Amino acid sequence: MRLPKRLPPKLQLLLLLLLAGLILGIYQLTDSPLLNQYGILKKYLKRSGAESKAAAATTTANRRILLWSSFFEDARWKLPYDTLGPQEFRDELQCGVYQCELSNQHDYLPALELYDAIVFHAAQPFPLLKSLPKRRNPSQLYVFALLESPGETKHRLSDEQDFYNLTMSYRLDSDIVWPYARLLDKQTRAQVAPSAAPHWRQPPAVGAWNDSDVWRLWPTKSKMAAWFVSHCETLSLREKLAAALEQHLQLDIYGKCGKLSCARGDPHCDNMLDTDYKFYLAFENSLCEDYVTEKLYGALQRNIVPVVFGGADYTRFLPPHSYIDAEQFESVDELAAHMDFVASDVYEYMSYFWWREHYSIGNASPFCDLCAKLHATNWLHKRQAYADIEAWWFNSCRFSSRIRF
Ligand SMILES: *[C@@H]1O[C@H](CO)[C@@H](O)[C@H](O)[C@H]1NC(C)=O
Ligand SMILES: *[C@@H]1O[C@H](CO)[C@@H](O)[C@H](O)[C@H]1NC(C)=O
Repeated sequence: MRLPKRLPPKLQLLLLLLLAGLILGIYQLTDSPLLNQYGILKKYLKRSGAESKAAAATTTANRRILLWSSFFEDARWKLPYDTLGPQEFRDELQCGVYQCELSNQHDYLPALELYDAIVFHAAQPFPLLKSLPKRRNPSQLYVFALLESPGETKHRLSDEQDFYNLTMSYRLDSDIVWPYARLLDKQTRAQVAPSAAPHWRQPPAVGAWNDSDVWRLWPTKSKMAAWFVSHCETLSLREKLAAALEQHLQLDIYGKCGKLSCARGDPHCDNMLDTDYKFYLAFENSLCEDYVTEKLYGALQRNIVPVVFGGADYTRFLPPHSYIDAEQFESVDELAAHMDFVASDVYEYMSYFWWREHYSIGNASPFCDLCAKLHATNWLHKRQAYADIEAWWFNSCRFSSRIRF
């Protein structure tokens, strides 16, 4: 075939345009999200330099945490040292994610803006001499941390609206849940509770569970209920509930608010719960969502049945049939009648201890969870602030109980 030596200029131009169109078309096609979805991500990462940033941020760099104020008298917040590095996070706190440094020394890093998170104890006023950081890095997180109930928060939160980015408290809707204790599955060691909807095993039928410790102690458990209390007038009015209960059964009140005393720390006081008493009152000082304190967990570690009164949904915290919840009764008469019934039969009584075969009580540092949160990729680009921390915190209590007394 013989091509014409020269195409007419108009045709040349047309061919050129066609060729350009074709190339553009092919380019468009290969760059289409339908054919080249990885290209989109790669292009983005190249453009923003985010690839290296994200990788460094998620894996290698330690997150740095400053404890701004002390936890009551404890500058270390129950941690073993003033400053902890990744090794302590891993070996001593047993954290899964441990690439963190934490200190209570404000000059641990040369500038406050360098910390990834600053933790404030919000149950107390901030220290006078170092009330607040002067400058703030917009990408660092201020943490609202406390274990007290709203009624015991001696801190003016109205001054701190739109200040905190994270919450760390016993409430299950906190960003970092900091419970007084945790229920672990004995087999898997996994945490079962607290959780918004724990998956509990079902208790066996009454009579099917024979607990050798309780069986042994039963003959000497001749007293009904004990209560150790030092805070006498409370928002929950637990003192009134206790007084009403006392009309129905023998209740021994130890401490400032009762007639009996037992020296704090004397092992005999705790042993009495095993040897003498059938029930222990774990009444909270206020009726607040998820507010369940160490007294309850202390009782669970003994051979005694706790009678609980608080604002929590206890099914989020404890196995079924391991406690008696006062709020499940309409009146004190009914509660007392139920306690009498349980106290009257060793198999009824023992049935409250079935869970010990499957669950144990443990704890883990909330700073593990904080460290993990600071490393979580879904937090890298997120912004969050509590515009009204006062409402978030204070609107979680009720002031009347369900049980009548
Ligand atoms: C429960 O255990 C005790 C001693 O450990 C025994 O005397 C008693 O018969 C047992 N009861 C049942 C129903 O197995
Ligand atoms: C933290 O909260 C402050 C105050 O509302 C806000 O300016 C900042 O952007 C927040 N930082 C992050 C990382 O969410």
